[in-house]
Amino acid sequence: MRALIVFESMYGNTHAIADALASGLRPHGEVEVVHVGKVTPAQVVDADFLVVGGPTHVHGMTSTTTRKGAVDTAGNSGGVLVIDPEAAGIGLRDWFEVLPDVQGHGTPAVAFDTRTEGPLLLTGHASKGIAARLAKHGYSVVAKPESFLVDKGNHLLDGELDRAKAWAQTALVSRFAAR
Ligand SMILES: Cc1cc2nc3c(=O)[nH]c(=O)nc-3n(C[C@H](O)[C@H](O)[C@H](O)COP(=O)(O)O)c2cc1C
Repeated sequence: MRALIVFESMYGNTHAIADALASGLRPHGEVEVVHVGKVTPAQVVDADFLVVGGPTHVHGMTSTTTRKGAVDTAGNSGGVLVIDPEAAGIGLRDWFEVLPDVQGHGTPAVAFDTRTEGPLLLTGHASKGIAARLAKHGYSVVAKPESFLVDKGNHLLDGELDRAKAWAQTALVSRFAAR
């Protein structure tokens, strides 16, 4: 019963959601939270439940260009936005490209993202691409992807950390604890 939460985060919001998910899962087993740039192949192979999340950029997953855009935005924010200490390095899109195709072997997995509040049609959501890549790599996507919301200033809305913990305790625990 070992869950691995792999996250990408520029401003720390997705990182905070990953930690909140971990706090919801932890009473039920072992949980590791690891930045996508630091996760090792052994950690991925050893996990029997994989949770993957990242920020929504330009309606989907981040790219090298959008990550640079995020850094520039932080630089112009007068210190309001701070780049997550672990943000440097690869994003989820790059990570999936080097992950072997049949890595998952049917292991249960779920996707989440952070995105700006507003209609999904206008914002897009990174978790759609994450879930598709998990499936392509042989994982069994066992819950509907979930988005956690930030305001237009890139700060988590009130209550989103609690909602993340509750999502882990409800939608995810049954899949996790059953292993
Ligand atoms: C370059 C860039 C593009 C973005 N594009 C979108 C978008 O298309 N849709 C959306 O909902 N939010 C968008 N956002 C807001 C991000 O989703 C938000 O910054 C992110 O959820 C914060 O997560 P993080 O703190 O983990 O980086 C964008 C942010 C940046 C910096």
